[in-house]
This record gives sequence, C-alpha cells and structure tokens, in this order.
Amino acid sequence: MSPRHFLTTEEWTRQELQLVLDRARAFKQGSDSSRSMQGKSIALLFFNPSLRTRTSFELGAFQMGGHAVVLQPGKDAWPMEFELGTTMDGEAEEHVKEAAQVLSRYCDLIAVRAFPKFTDWEQDRQDKTLMAFSQYATVPVINMETIIHPCQELALMMNLQEKLGQPDKKKFLLTWTWHPKPLNTAVANSALLIASKFGMDVTLLCPSPEYLLDERFMQAGAENAKREGGSLTVTHDIQEAYSGADFVYAKSWGALPYFGRWEEETGIRMASRHFMVDAQKMALTNSAKFSHCLPLRRNVKATDEVMDADYCVAIDEAENRLHVQKAMMATLLENQQ
Ligand code: CP
Repeated sequence: MSPRHFLTTEEWTRQELQLVLDRARAFKQGSDSSRSMQGKSIALLFFNPSLRTRTSFELGAFQMGGHAVVLQPGKDAWPMEFELGTTMDGEAEEHVKEAAQVLSRYCDLIAVRAFPKFTDWEQDRQDKTLMAFSQYATVPVINMETIIHPCQELALMMNLQEKLGQPDKKKFLLTWTWHPKPLNTAVANSALLIASKFGMDVTLLCPSPEYLLDERFMQAGAENAKREGGSLTVTHDIQEAYSGADFVYAKSWGALPYFGRWEEETGIRMASRHFMVDAQKMALTNSAKFSHCLPLRRNVKATDEVMDADYCVAIDEAENRLHVQKAMMATLLENQQ
C-alpha cells in the first residue's frame, strides 16, 4: 500500500507513483468515471493565492462526487499558530493542533498550501506548516505547494510521458529563468525530484553556484539518478545546457544564500535577464517541448514566441493537474479503507 499522506514524492516509490499516473490517464481518457469521493470531502487550506490548484482540486472533488471546503487562514478562517509551547498573545487565534484535529472530524482529506516566509531558509526548509498538519491530522494530508510542489510533479511527469513516451535517459533541462523578484524554489526542487526519479538525464542550468537548490534536493536528485540509471549535471553554460535537450522546463527562483537579504541578490539577478527562454535557445534542442508550471510572466520568463509555439505544452500540464489530483485523492481514500 502507498504512503498515508502525499507530502513529497520522496516518500513514494516510482512504481507507486506510476500507478497514480496510470489512474490519472484513465480519468483523462474518460475510462474511469468512478465516483470515488461520493459522500467524502476535502478541506483545502490556502495560506497563499492560487488559480490552478484551487480550481482543479475543487472541480476534481466535485467530479468524483465529493465536496471541497476552501479555507484561507488569516482571511476567511482564523490566523493560525504552529509553534508548540508558545504563548499565543499575537495575531494567531487558533493552534494547528486543534485545527488539524477538528478538520479531520469533518473531512476525509486535508490539503495545504503554505509557501516559505522568505526570511530564513533554515526555518523555511523545515516545512513546519505542512509537517504540523501531517502530525496532528487523523486523515491523509496532501501538499498543495510548500517548499516542494508534488502535485505539479505528477502533472509534469504525466505530460513528459504523454510527449516523450518512456522518459528514461531523455535529456530534461531544468533552467533557471529571469524574474524581477526572488521566487519559491518549490517547483524547481520538484522538477529535479520527479525527472530524476523517472530515470531522466537531468541538466540543471542556473546563472551561478549560488542558485543551486537545497542540498536535500540536490542529493535526492543524485541518488535517484544513480538508482534509476539517469544522470544529474549542473551547468552555467546556456548553449551546452540547451544542446540536445528533449524537454525544457523553466522556473525562476531566489538564491538560497541570500534568503532574507534579497537586496544583495539583485545585482546577480539583474545581470541574468538573458536566461529568459526564447526561440534561439529552443532551436539548440532536440526539437524539445517546453513547459512551465504557470503562472508565467510573458517576455520576462519566456517570450511570446515560445509561449505561443506548438512546442509549448504548459496548458497540457495545467490540465493534467486535474487528472493527477483526482487519482491521488482516490488513492489516498482507498488506502484509508
Ligand atoms: N502551478 C500552480 O500551482 O498554479 P497556482 O499557483 O495558480 O495554483
């Protein structure tokens, strides 16, 4: 049986994830119309904004006969505390210990989106909000993006399998791209995890060593590559990175050494605008497909020409969010029986 929660793909085997992906394909093809959530419900807790995640989870639950309750702590639900033993004399009205237990009495699943606070990576990398929910909830918990984005990983891998077939040994380029603000590393961490887990030859392209991802994910990527017969290569050379790529995946993120001191990162970031994905770079590839998790700033992260090209499959990936999340909700509910 697969794990109780879906917090990270690191806790799931390739085979367990493939079963979820196969189920997602059945949902997409319409060959699985089972109402696996009949009479069931999911609480969706959003500590941060969303378009795709909220819509696809709400509709996914509805399509399987279930119901989703959306809560935004601090907006339409009480602000929450996560530390134990603290004197709650600040903004928080509710402790996660009660909130997670109460929601578990009402709902069959709990899903959480809680981005890093972007001031101290040593704190953020502990993923305390998600960990607290998984500790105190008595129902399965799903990660809707924290320091990783495992639902996006499944949608990406479904897209990769649809476009490339067997992904093993295909060249997957994960490229840092320009953005005026330092963004979450979650999707980059996740792309590295899932591409390496499925045996791809992963190239990580970033402006300088300061943009390497957290050692936890670099190490997991290297271990996955070793186990699955793929590889993990880091480069700062744009031409070398794009050359022969079968799939280009773009994401911008903030350099971890500058967490909380972002003004010191601005110079490097401003000097790296040329990392934007454009048609000239894509022409170096092996007729690669291009994708991004979205939202994407046009002509900042990728040009209009790239986004409007036939090789851009970002919309397919966004659609896949619906199918993979339905498959994951159905799987976790079955594990409970
Ligand atoms: N890709 C993604 O998670 O989109 P949202 O932030 O709109 O949910």
